[in-house]
Amino acid sequence: MNKTLTIALSKGRILGETLPLLEKANIVPVEDISKSRKLIFDTNHEHIKLVILRATDVPTYVDHGVADFGVAGKDVLMEASTNNLYELLDLKIAKCRLMTAGVVGEALPNRRLKVASKFIKTAKAYFAEQGVQADVVKLYGAMELAPIMGLADLIVDIVDTGNTLKANGLEARELIAPISTRLVVNKAAYKTKYAQIEPILDMLRGAVEDNEGK
Ligand code: ATP
Ligand code: PRP
Repeated sequence: MNKTLTIALSKGRILGETLPLLEKANIVPVEDISKSRKLIFDTNHEHIKLVILRATDVPTYVDHGVADFGVAGKDVLMEASTNNLYELLDLKIAKCRLMTAGVVGEALPNRRLKVASKFIKTAKAYFAEQGVQADVVKLYGAMELAPIMGLADLIVDIVDTGNTLKANGLEARELIAPISTRLVVNKAAYKTKYAQIEPILDMLRGAVEDNEGK
């Protein structure tokens, strides 16, 4: 008998791109996720379930082994404290960049930098690696306001088109990391459920290639 496999999906922006990819890999929820308040869904495979989580909670569920697979942005994975998961596959969706940004044309002050970000672990590691002294303050959203209001000299945030920065008088400065959505697996599950996991992985690899070919 097949062991149950649980896949944790990030809700929000990533979900809309994940579901067509799963469908190409022949994993289809039995009901319309977008029209339901439910958080756990059966699929066309009796042994595969989907759970819909806040993106930042996906690594936690997989790390603890209560979900076998997870789908999350590289930004979220870099920020998470996990030991028990492998990054198996780049799904090549929700592509963007993690960057520093500051006020257009404004030079950096000659003192310890003030940085605001949702990604404080990644930001601290980045500035330390650059040998730049920086205090990093945690924000939960609207990062672009921080330099305008004088809370920070720089922000570390996601940039795609650059429209959000531009609309707020900011400019992108340094690239910290290119970001896309990744498939992660719990390390123990990868061993104990390998027979179930491998065919899904193969199908997803095919789906990613198919997407890229378009
Ligand atoms: P939450 O609402 O839980 O705080 P969030 O607002 O960060 O999460 P989304 O905006 O749905 O969540 O973004 C989820 C993921 O999508 C991010 O972690 C990142 O990997 C990617 N992403 C974010 N912004 C963009 C963008 N502008 N273009 C492409 N991908 C993006
Ligand atoms: C994301 C990110 C940036 C913006 C960048 O925000 O936090 O603010 O996209 O994209 P751009 O370079 O194309 O403008 P999102 O739209 O997801 O809103 P939220 O994170 O504030 O919910």
